[in-house]
Amino acid sequence: MFQRKINENPENRPHHVQTEAVKTPKRMKLKISELTIESYERVFDLWNRCDGIGLGDSDTKENIALFLKRNPGMSCIAKMGDTLVGAVLAGHDGRRGYIYHLAVSANHRQQGIGRMLVAHCIGRLKTAGISKCHIFMFTDNAAGKKFWDAAGWSCRNDIGMLSRFID
Ligand SMILES: CC(C)(COP(=O)(O)OP(=O)(O)OC[C@H]1O[C@@H](n2cnc3c(N)ncnc32)[C@H](O)[C@@H]1OP(=O)(O)O)[C@@H](O)C(=O)NCCC(=O)NCCS
Repeated sequence: MFQRKINENPENRPHHVQTEAVKTPKRMKLKISELTIESYERVFDLWNRCDGIGLGDSDTKENIALFLKRNPGMSCIAKMGDTLVGAVLAGHDGRRGYIYHLAVSANHRQQGIGRMLVAHCIGRLKTAGISKCHIFMFTDNAAGKKFWDAAGWSCRNDIGMLSRFID
C-alpha cells in the first residue's frame, strides 16, 4: 500500500515537529525532542547497531553528559511511540558547529527522519549565531554520502583530518 513519507506532509516539516508529536500516514506518532543523558543507553545501543557510526572513548556516558552540558538543547532524538528511531549529537565551539553520530534505525530509514534531526540541529546552531557546521563521515559510507549530498553539504577535498591522544 502506498505510504507517504513523513516529510511530504507540510504539517510534519522540521520547524513544526521540534517539540510536538505529529501523525504519520501510518498513524504512528513521530516526536523529535532533546537528547538528554537519561536516554544514553538506548541511544548508544542505536549507534552501536549502525554501520557508519564510529564509537570510541569519547562516547562514554560521562563524556556524552559533558558534551550535552556544554551544548544544551542542541542534540535530539526521534521517537515513534516509545520506540527510539533516531538520534544525533550537535554542538559548537563558539566558531563552528559540529554534528556527530546521526543515526536512524534501519527499519525507519528513508522516511525523512534523518533530515528532520539535522534540521533541528541546524536551527539550534543558527539561533546560537553559528554560520557554518562540519560533520565527520567515514569515506566508505556510501549511503551517508548520498544523504549529506542530497542535503547540500560539500565534501572538502582540500582538508585532511589529523588526530592524537592527549595523555
Ligand atoms: C544516513 C542516515 C542517518 C539517513 O537517515 P534517513 O532518515 O534514512 O534519511 P532521510 O530519509 O531523511 O533522507 C533524506 C534524503 O537523503 C537521501 N538519502 C538518504 N538515505 C539514502 C540512501 N540510502 N540512498 C540514497 N539516498 C539516500 C535521499 O535523497 C533522501 O531524500 P528522499 O528520500 O526525499 O529522496 C541513515 O541512513 C543512517 O542512520 N545510516 C547509518 C548511520 C550513518 O551512516 N550516519 C551518518 C554518519 S556521517
